[in-house]
Amino acid sequence: MNIKIKKILKKKNKSKIVSLTAYSKNIAKILDNYCDIILVGDSMANVLYGLDDTHKINLDMIINHTLSVKKGVKKSLLVVDMPKGSYNNKNTAKKNAKLIMRLTKCDAVKLESNNKNFDIIKELVKSKIPVMGHIGYTPQFKKKFKVEGQSTSKANKLLKEAKLIEKAGAFSLVLECLTPHASALVTKNLRIPTIGIGSSTNCDGQILVTDDMLGISGFYPKFVKKYATLNTTIEKAVKKYTRDVKKGKFPLKKNFLNGTKF
Ligand code: KIV
Repeated sequence: MNIKIKKILKKKNKSKIVSLTAYSKNIAKILDNYCDIILVGDSMANVLYGLDDTHKINLDMIINHTLSVKKGVKKSLLVVDMPKGSYNNKNTAKKNAKLIMRLTKCDAVKLESNNKNFDIIKELVKSKIPVMGHIGYTPQFKKKFKVEGQSTSKANKLLKEAKLIEKAGAFSLVLECLTPHASALVTKNLRIPTIGIGSSTNCDGQILVTDDMLGISGFYPKFVKKYATLNTTIEKAVKKYTRDVKKGKFPLKKNFLNGTKF
């Protein structure tokens, strides 16, 4: 088993797993010093490409961004989202997951659950492709962004789904937008670690979309904590640059290229 995955598994009930998304090398390089897991998420659809949903992200886009991210990653476990439509059946899933793994040298792929595709996870794991599952609000399959597991029966249904994903061989599971009760129920009853987003602290770890927590995406639901307001920082810098250019204050003499030195 991949040594980085072994490390993640060992964290269950011991220490919290830290995870964030990245779509490019420069961000990944910073995250790599802190994160156990870096996810190249299909959230790039909304965050980076300004699309309405994640459905239009294709394999080439995911692979290209992962190639960039990989350049910044040394220590973290690199997980890549399989785009919608790229794992509709066992053969397609196997072909595409192998392509992602071979071209990007990532560590694992992530598949959203539709509460039916357990055999696809099983097939990938059988082919030695590590799989992270994803339940709750799964944007590839559900239209409405809503809290999941609000009644006892709904929470139990999520647990049943999570158990089948674990049985299929996934090494971890993302819980998106689950109630604190449902998150605790799933986390306590699984051997594999759960990574929550909008799912309280009752998970083995947390993930956020980096652009959201840096305050640059413009999407800040209740479960996002803004750790920075980079939009303001960037705007200030651009404003200063604009002023300098207009006033002839940039470039300065020290920025001129007189000799051969850069
Ligand atoms: O695409 C993504 O960024 C994700 C996270 C929200 C878990 O799947």
